[in-house]
Amino acid sequence: MGENGSHTMWTDESEKSWYYENKLNLRAKGYCLEFGLGLGFASEIILSNPEVKQLKTLEMNLDVITVQDMVNPILDDRHAIVNASMEEYLDTTEDTFDFVFIDTYITTGNETLSWLEDIVPKIKSLLNPGGEVMAWLDFTSSEEEKKRFYNILNT
Ligand SMILES: C[S@@+](CC[C@H](N)C(=O)[O-])C[C@H]1O[C@@H](n2cnc3c(N)ncnc32)[C@H](O)[C@@H]1O
Repeated sequence: MGENGSHTMWTDESEKSWYYENKLNLRAKGYCLEFGLGLGFASEIILSNPEVKQLKTLEMNLDVITVQDMVNPILDDRHAIVNASMEEYLDTTEDTFDFVFIDTYITTGNETLSWLEDIVPKIKSLLNPGGEVMAWLDFTSSEEEKKRFYNILNT
């Protein structure tokens, strides 16, 4: 966020390529939950899979929701955008999901990894049998950070 409360929203082709390289479109199925709307590119990729029955996207910043709707509206009855923080949602929800995608941060350094260590078990408790959690992994992560990241997601 800028000093005057302004936000900068951006994406680039490498971010979109990451979603495809990591098979976001193929791994998403059934009832899906996504944390972080941004410009909605990941949401569109998730919804491109016809096996997706519903996608709920949590976004804590109302300005982001407004801008996304202006620049990249998603007209799909399966999609619901909820203005709430993921922490708030995880403390109260009784919903369960087949696929969860975490995309609320840019880098996967120490601080993010410690936060993921806390939050991923809570997210896994919402999974239906056979369900999967996927999360953004920053391209610039070191081998050690990648190892810790996959350890969090796969245990
Ligand atoms: C990297 S962007 C997401 C990019 C998006 N996947 C796309 O395709 O454009 C991260 C988004 O997560 C949101 N966010 C950050 N922390 C959050 C939280 N705790 N709960 C909900 N949304 C959050 C930010 O406001 C921002 O819109």
